[in-house]
Amino acid sequence: MKRILVLYYSQGGHTAHITRAIKQAIDTEGHQCDMMHVHEALSAGVDFDQYDAVAVGSCVLYGSYHASLFELVERYQNELAKLPNSFYSVNVVARNPEKRNPDNNKYLQKFIELSPWKPQQVKVIAGKVNYPAWKWYDRLMIQMIMKMTDGPTDPTSVIDYTDYEDVAEYGRGLIKLAS
Ligand SMILES: Cc1cc2nc3c(=O)[nH]c(=O)nc-3n(C[C@H](O)[C@H](O)[C@H](O)COP(=O)(O)O)c2cc1C
Repeated sequence: MKRILVLYYSQGGHTAHITRAIKQAIDTEGHQCDMMHVHEALSAGVDFDQYDAVAVGSCVLYGSYHASLFELVERYQNELAKLPNSFYSVNVVARNPEKRNPDNNKYLQKFIELSPWKPQQVKVIAGKVNYPAWKWYDRLMIQMIMKMTDGPTDPTSVIDYTDYEDVAEYGRGLIKLAS
């Protein structure tokens, strides 16, 4: 049995939801997946020795990632690099299939550029538009981004772009990575 740790940053809950789907895919195959929010990892610490592989995932916020994600990869860069490792980026630009190619996704490239830990494997996952759940200024800003990229601008829109079969496949891929 392989033990896999997934550290994730989620602001509005969707990256947490995706991470639960990854965990489910791993657990269903008879392996063990533990998931931990980046904030919890930073405050409680992480025992990397328990694991055969590690993944780190985060949503994109305003073209980058929350500062705590960079704090995590700074602090644990050696531990992350010692295990088979992977990074996944959740963003709504990836609703366009060509932007799910890591080479074409600027947010994924940005992470690789800024992070002292260079992930062995990377993945881009399309996230969720959830205008009603967002604060008014976030809604306004994202509507502007969407207007520029031909996306939905209706403030009542709730659209989940995540391909859950692909997410499950990513989870099963982490088992292979750990083997
Ligand atoms: C404040 C804010 C800023 C965002 N900025 C971007 C962005 O620059 N590019 C993008 O593709 N998606 C952007 N998104 C979309 C999120 O990455 C997407 O909604 C994701 O599913 C959110 O995950 P979470 O619920 O775990 O926070 C933004 C969302 C919010 C709320």
